[in-house]
Amino acid sequence: MSIATARVGSNIAFIKYWGVADATLNIPLSNSISMTLADAHTTTTVAWDEIGALENDAFVLDGVAQSPARSQRLTRHLDILRGLAGVTWRARVTSENNFPTASGIASSASGFAALTVAGCAALGLELDATRLSAIARRSSGSASRSLFGGFVEWAQGSSDADSVAFPLYGPEHWDLRDLVAVVSGAEKKLSSADGHLLAKSSPLLDGRIAHVNGWLAETRRALAERDIQRLGPVIELDALAMHSVMMTSSPSLLYWQPGTLDVLQAVRRWREEEGLAVYFTIDAGPNVHLICAAESAPEVETRLAALRSVERVIVSGPGRGPQLLDEHLI
Ligand code: DP6
Repeated sequence: MSIATARVGSNIAFIKYWGVADATLNIPLSNSISMTLADAHTTTTVAWDEIGALENDAFVLDGVAQSPARSQRLTRHLDILRGLAGVTWRARVTSENNFPTASGIASSASGFAALTVAGCAALGLELDATRLSAIARRSSGSASRSLFGGFVEWAQGSSDADSVAFPLYGPEHWDLRDLVAVVSGAEKKLSSADGHLLAKSSPLLDGRIAHVNGWLAETRRALAERDIQRLGPVIELDALAMHSVMMTSSPSLLYWQPGTLDVLQAVRRWREEEGLAVYFTIDAGPNVHLICAAESAPEVETRLAALRSVERVIVSGPGRGPQLLDEHLI
């Protein structure tokens, strides 16, 4: 068997990807910018079955064998890799997240990036990170950004080759923290893939897209200057704009729970009344990501843990890009 194992960090978007210009290729409606996470990662081993013993791809996630229905997205991604290498081999894939599912941390971003890196390495395909980013993007847009460490931008592009992520700064550039306030562990009812298709039904989509280039520029500048007071307002604005698009789609997507709003109000209170420099962003779910400088993180964590609606807090700093490991999970 040709085998390889990769470890890849998830990422949190500061300026979001929401809505697709091309649903087949996952070409987005705008650029997006994220921070790769050090402490929330997926480790994946891919073993290709060259002798043809396997009838189907076999997928074990966090110790649980997945049904064919739950392996569909994985198999479709492996089909892309098989196509690239010109083989028909099935694969055994074992994957482990070091963070809980439904925690508000995107497992598909790190998952599809790790699957791409391990799968291609095991096939002997020598591809650079840009090419791997394009391949990962096909199955999960946000996965394209996890191919790089630190602070990363995904260029919208217009084709399979140029809709790829590129690094803005390495993880050492700015010691930020992402504190995820988990207010509900419930799995989301609608996948992001289906959500992207609904974006165009929102009357507010054009407004967000008209402003997003300005917000991207503001985010790049805030990163360059390591200025949390500049970064914070723009990431909150974009998260609220994205959720406004979601809420006004048909059908309407309302990801927030009462606990979501509790955390948002608390963050604003701490900031406005006590000068604590912490800001929020929210992905396609109810849990809230709090972004602050490393030195503020212990204070923010203590305050979050004291809120009744917060079930748990997961903390991560900026992480490096993908690593190939010598030890396999199979
Ligand atoms: C709200 O299509 O990458 O997180 O693959 O289902 O995780 P999944 O989602 P994807 O959409 C991500 C949407 C987002 C914003 C973002 O990460 O940019």
